[in-house]
Amino acid sequence: MREDSHKLAAQAEKLRDEIDRANYRYHVLDNPEISDAEYDQLMRRLEALEREHPELATPDSPTQRVGAAPSEKFGVVVHRRPMMSLGNAMDAEEMREFDKRVRRLLKSDADVEYVAEVKLDGLGIELVYEDGRLTVGSTRGDGINGEDVTRNIRTIKSVPLRLRCPEHNKSKIPRLLEVRGEVIIPRTGFARLNREREEAGEPVFANPRNAAAGALRQLDPKITASRPLDVFLYAPGVIEGVALKSQWEFLQAIKALGLRVNPLSRVCRGIGAILEYWNEITEKRRELDYEADGVVAKVNSYALQEQLGEVSRSPRWAIAYKFKAQQAETVVEKIEVQVGRIGSLTPVGKLRPVQLAGVTISNTSLHNLDEIRRKDIRERDTVLIERAGDVIPYVIRVTRQGHPRAKPFEMPTHCPECGAAIVHEQGEVGYFCVNANCPARMRESIRHFASKGCLDIEGLGDKLVAQLVEQGLVKELDDLFGLTGEQLAGLERMADKSARNVLDAIAAARKTSLDRFISGLGIRHVGEHTARQLALKFRTMDALAAATEDDLLGVRDIGSEVAHSIREYFDEPRNLKTVKRLIKILEVEPPAQLEGRGAVRDKTFVLTGTLESMTREEAERKIMAAGGRVTSSVSRKTGFVVAGAEPGSKLKKANDLGVRVLDEKGLVSILARDS
Ligand code: IVH
Repeated sequence: MREDSHKLAAQAEKLRDEIDRANYRYHVLDNPEISDAEYDQLMRRLEALEREHPELATPDSPTQRVGAAPSEKFGVVVHRRPMMSLGNAMDAEEMREFDKRVRRLLKSDADVEYVAEVKLDGLGIELVYEDGRLTVGSTRGDGINGEDVTRNIRTIKSVPLRLRCPEHNKSKIPRLLEVRGEVIIPRTGFARLNREREEAGEPVFANPRNAAAGALRQLDPKITASRPLDVFLYAPGVIEGVALKSQWEFLQAIKALGLRVNPLSRVCRGIGAILEYWNEITEKRRELDYEADGVVAKVNSYALQEQLGEVSRSPRWAIAYKFKAQQAETVVEKIEVQVGRIGSLTPVGKLRPVQLAGVTISNTSLHNLDEIRRKDIRERDTVLIERAGDVIPYVIRVTRQGHPRAKPFEMPTHCPECGAAIVHEQGEVGYFCVNANCPARMRESIRHFASKGCLDIEGLGDKLVAQLVEQGLVKELDDLFGLTGEQLAGLERMADKSARNVLDAIAAARKTSLDRFISGLGIRHVGEHTARQLALKFRTMDALAAATEDDLLGVRDIGSEVAHSIREYFDEPRNLKTVKRLIKILEVEPPAQLEGRGAVRDKTFVLTGTLESMTREEAERKIMAAGGRVTSSVSRKTGFVVAGAEPGSKLKKANDLGVRVLDEKGLVSILARDS
């Protein structure tokens, strides 16, 4: 019996080691050794073992990342060493001055050795490892007191719950290791998160940083676990049990312990090398899968750091050299409210048009009332807007108040389009127009129905849709198919030929697939991915409309909220009537059986160069529709790099890493096989 339990314990420990190693290879080294399926297999075996023998489960087991129930509020963590902030340099001149000051204080004529790092635009955190085990994770807070977010940080896969032994030598694990770093959300994960939120009718995040902050401060670790958080570590706190002499040595040491460090950091001799590094990263910035706002130069030697000391909570041995911001000032001429397809209201700032990074910006989402209040944005105010990476522009702050100052913005009590009373739940962010006949909602529903990922009706532009609704020609989605040439020709700016083109496009769209039909309905929480799963499972619209919540819960990736929303949609007699009519009108192809084929499914694609037969957007959509993902940078985890005409450096990287490369034909053919 005892021997048995020894054996089982050893078995569990072996599985944990294998899983930790796989996590490390995947999340830290970006170089997995085993497939996702093998990983899942290991996890399932460990879970089963721990379920049968609960005494075997340890707190640092990989199965225990999301264990805890929601908490009421966060505790306080006092940082043993204050978490300092960094002084800024705005140009090369200020960087040279920084270097001069360093040399003056060190009384040195020789070049100083620096470590150059990317300045990540995320959230400062501290991790504490005691005897190799993660015991505390906290936010930076005010630098002295942070919040105890240990349970949330544990859900981040690139944070090891226990440190690796360098060269399997336990004595090399420090007794105490405090490391500081940044929690971020990669751009690709951010785009996906916002897409899902949009589908769910939830307010989108303005930028990855806000999304990361929101995720880290969730009281329910399950929610944090569902967000694509990642981490880079870059600074020491208190360390006991190992002696380190420099920042570079520190970075190498924590890397050997299994912590994730940024691969772009490097030693630079003299300020010239730092300026070169800045130029290089400025160039590369767009290709990085995370937001960066500059580079950081740190004097490498700890002895010299100590000699230099600090002033007012900033070290004299380090400085941040910010990128040139893509910012502009302009006036918010008006704040309008837009009504979405499911009735959610979004305040939008109408801007005096301004050039920003080569595009004219005249609108910006103001996201929601809380955000507007926090920044106190009012009509006629001058604001600073920013385009961070390829993210949509947003307002950073008010720089000059309008004169006379407008009243604070209020959400309307009635829908600006149809006048129906607005519904707002106390304590929730959202405001909704619940009038199903609201013309704005109808417009958005039609636009969605006709969009590329749904019925793909070409030529049905915003202006035309607005007229169709306004003239009462389309009251339900199925009315589109009853439109006549005369009706269209009677509309503004509609020549005979364009009317015919639109009718042809509508007729052509009758032939469609079940997943496009489902996603075209615009059911709350049902986007392209879910629609696909539903199509595979139910195979006809009639079957889907008849499915109970329990049936729906049996579908891959569908939880109770989504199941409820689908049922609610079909329970509404008006919706059901529209769907029944559409079933008669459309020629719906039955879905191909995709399971088990999938060269595309769950694979990551990176596109480079120009495609001929489709735009990049179309390619991305097709890949996603086939269950794949599209990201912007190539790593060993990339499944395929698709190289069009004049491919960039990504093709070289793919070849260097041995990632499979497809040309356009190759992409078309695997997509055809898969859909
Ligand atoms: S070192 C004593 N390195 O920038 C130096 N900070 O303004 C402490 N940050 O709160 C920070 N990337 O959140 C350091 N590679 C990097 C960084 C970095 C981003 C953030 C960090 C800190 C803020 C300082």
